[in-house]
Amino acid sequence: MPTVAGGLEGVVFTETGVCFIDGTVGHLLYRGYDIQDVAEHLSFEEVAYLLWLGKLPNRQELETLHGQFAAERDIPSIAYDVIDALPPNTVPMDGLRTVVSFLSGTDPELDDNSADANYRKAVRLTAKAPTIMAAVHRRHFGLDPVIPQPTGSLAYNFLYMLSGQEPDEFVAQTLDVALTLHAEHGMNASTFAGRVTVATLADMYAGVTSAIGALKGPLHGGANAVVLKMLQEIGDPDHARDYVNNVISGDYVVPGMAPRRVPGFGHRVYKAFDPRAIVLRGMSKKLGERAGDSRWVDISNAVVEACAAAGLNEKGIYPNVDFFSASSYYTMGIPESLFTPVFAIARMTGWTAHIIEQQSDNRLIRPRADYIGEKGLKVVPIDQR
Ligand code: SDX
Repeated sequence: MPTVAGGLEGVVFTETGVCFIDGTVGHLLYRGYDIQDVAEHLSFEEVAYLLWLGKLPNRQELETLHGQFAAERDIPSIAYDVIDALPPNTVPMDGLRTVVSFLSGTDPELDDNSADANYRKAVRLTAKAPTIMAAVHRRHFGLDPVIPQPTGSLAYNFLYMLSGQEPDEFVAQTLDVALTLHAEHGMNASTFAGRVTVATLADMYAGVTSAIGALKGPLHGGANAVVLKMLQEIGDPDHARDYVNNVISGDYVVPGMAPRRVPGFGHRVYKAFDPRAIVLRGMSKKLGERAGDSRWVDISNAVVEACAAAGLNEKGIYPNVDFFSASSYYTMGIPESLFTPVFAIARMTGWTAHIIEQQSDNRLIRPRADYIGEKGLKVVPIDQR
């Protein structure tokens, strides 16, 4: 029997053309393009096109995609009824998972797993996720949903649907970059969950529902909200060192995080600074300066120093994508309850790109386990047990 690879660490189960990661040096490519180049020069819509179709759109192709997103942005009125019926304490990620699952019954191409139909479903799901999220959030506060505008980017419309006001252009542009940075990341847990699901030939909605469920966890996409809780508890850069040392020693556990884990640090693949965290660090600095409140990025940087001083870097533990997204989103005015949903909105493109790839050359995904239980037991009648 082969040795057990805990958490499937290091296991290669397929080939992919979507994303390349070299964790030893912190190198990330989307379809061959370096993440720094992508973040600096591509809009989220261009990244969606690149991930789905494997090439950059020309101006006409991009205009067409913008039109497809605009046409698919709203959700059927019955979906708003489902949102109204959600139990009051439903957290946004569960609201997204519920409504995505519900929408499967409204998609005429649900069971068509062809590349063309899967592309159209990817556009629908990506266009609708922000609308669902904004409506779930507003309903929680007793507010009516804001109908999306036919113009504007996905980031712009998300902010508009959240507040009902025209968003600040700089914040909308910054959110667009953040979505780009969160769009895709190879065989992470939620993407793998989606691929396992559709490898049975279940539909894209089923795969995305599995992926949303997996992303919610604090070891994965749920970490960014826990990072904010940590920053708020630290409260001042001068308190970071003691706080971090108490977490690492196990004397204190950050609410919502596993013991001895600093949220937003460490990664199964990266043993260097996550290249996305480098971009988000700069973004958080700029946002803080512009808002006249650099407190959260200052505390974040103090945590980075404290972790380095505690020797985490020597163990290959550095900030990951969730670490600086917390101070960035907070300073943008995005509510903490929507931090992970924003991650899901972005990753909808990566999930659907991998689902398209999986179903274009599919084989059922079914690993094995090494049985360590007893054997040869005999059943005895219940009155003798
Ligand atoms: C994302 O996979 C992806 O690509 C995910 C993602 C994406 O874009 O999809 O990049 C997004 O999910 C980023 C990760 C967000 N999660 C967190 O920030 C939660 C905190 N991080 C850890 O729980 C942990 O680093 C994981 C879950 C991310 C990775 O865990 P592994 O690979 O299973 O590593 P491990 O838990 O076995 O730890 C290995 C060692 C241990 O030391 P020893 O006990 O063996 O001495 O590293 C230490 C751990 O103690 N360690 C940490 C740490 N993470 C690992 N120590 C302190 N703080 C941490 N955060």
